[in-house]
Amino acid sequence: MICIIKIFNVFLLSCHAKKVIKYDLQSKKKIIMNRSVKITINNKIYEATEGRSVALELFSKNFHHLRNSPKFNKKRGFFCMIGSCQECLITIDNKKILACITKIKEGMKIELY
Ligand code: FES
Repeated sequence: MICIIKIFNVFLLSCHAKKVIKYDLQSKKKIIMNRSVKITINNKIYEATEGRSVALELFSKNFHHLRNSPKFNKKRGFFCMIGSCQECLITIDNKKILACITKIKEGMKIELY
């Protein structure tokens, strides 16, 4: 587990190095990667990087517990990180959305658990 966290940290550091402009197919807008924006996680304001996936940003801020399973009330977290397992289903701006395929945007309101 520590090895996986170290690999993610190296990936996060390499993302900080460049300024990249990407085109988001969902919102059909240009996103300036590595621009610092403010987001709200559980009613606390955090600084985040626009264009990064919500899952990566939560992981880097040590939010590993995203929600509880409806049937057995057990802790759920990230699993596939490609949008197929539905484990990262969280509330973003009052909508249930997968964190791993959603990009960070300015003023985003994220609710966990
Ligand atoms: S982690 Fe599997 S859908 Fe997001």
